[in-house]
Amino acid sequence: HTVDGAFITAGIFAMGVLAFYLIKRRYVEMAKTGFKFAATFTVIATIAQVIIGDLHGYEVAHQQPLKLAMVEGKFETEKCASLDLFGIIDQENKQSRMLLKIPCLLSFLSYHDFNAEVKGIDELINDYQNKSKEYANLIPVLEQKLQQAQTPEEKQKIKDQLAEAKVKAHAFNIKYEDLPSIPLVFTTFHLMVYLGFYFVLIALLAWWFAKKGTLEKHKGFLWLLVLSIPLPYMANLLGWMSAEVGRQPWIVFGMLLTRDGVSFVPASQVALSIAVFTTIYTIFFIVFLYLIFKTIGKGPNITTAKEESVPPVNPNPAFTTNFSKSEEVK
Ligand code: HEM
Repeated sequence: HTVDGAFITAGIFAMGVLAFYLIKRRYVEMAKTGFKFAATFTVIATIAQVIIGDLHGYEVAHQQPLKLAMVEGKFETEKCASLDLFGIIDQENKQSRMLLKIPCLLSFLSYHDFNAEVKGIDELINDYQNKSKEYANLIPVLEQKLQQAQTPEEKQKIKDQLAEAKVKAHAFNIKYEDLPSIPLVFTTFHLMVYLGFYFVLIALLAWWFAKKGTLEKHKGFLWLLVLSIPLPYMANLLGWMSAEVGRQPWIVFGMLLTRDGVSFVPASQVALSIAVFTTIYTIFFIVFLYLIFKTIGKGPNITTAKEESVPPVNPNPAFTTNFSKSEEVK
């Protein structure tokens, strides 16, 4: 999913730059040919992302049901659970007001059964507390068994079971207050999904216009592609945030709580590392932007006879810049 996110970023970036060349009437032939490749590539990558994303959702439902409940803002257990597209979550009062619901779709996406039960946050926390108690009750039983064990193999087996029981009794003992910001998990996830469908739409339109040879007639759409360049970067960050924040309060689900995984490093050292990382990455980002704009401004290193003779479709001085004039002569 993350690798495909990178493919989508590359595809939309390429389409955006090529759209810019078409708007500015530069390298028109190269841009049209490149567009066909970029659009086909992006159509495949974006449709694949929806399918892979759906598989991920299925996996999350089975492996991390609490994350699924937070991502979907479900406080109560529901059979034939609806997929809620827009809404507001009130974490304090355990309420979610959803504006658009598609009945039973969440059950189907999560368990491939329209009638399946999707557990809500409250019931899951109850389940985890019960699990924690069961493991806690198991500890004295296993300790006694360990004392009676005869062979080294038997002892080792019981020791492993004991270790697991201790870890899980502690890790599953969570409370509602331990949950992260549910509105943040809900919003980041939903924005990622909306962007995913938006990318499919623009990739299909771009592919269709490129196939019909009518791209240059749709100036508004070309500008939309240029302006869409930052969006896949945002989708990747949103997906990452929803996966990581949604994982809380665990670092490893049901095994290790994040608060137990914290190293004893003074706050000043953490602040210093963050400051150093922020500075270095800001410098990288500025250099990246400089190089990208420079490369786009310079254009590809090709000039064909055909390229030079392409007349503007609609000779409009607004689309001719001093920069593009000098580049075209080159
Ligand atoms: C329509 C479609 C999409 C669906 C149904 C979907 C579904 C999901 C799901 C369920 C997760 C959580 C995985 C987990 O917590 O283990 C996730 C994470 C993620 N998504 Fe999406 N996604 C979609 C679109 C996108 C797009 C368009 C991008 C980027 C261009 C993207 C990038 C990511 C990233 C980077 C993560 C974090 C992965 C990780 O850190 O493990 N997703 N997505």
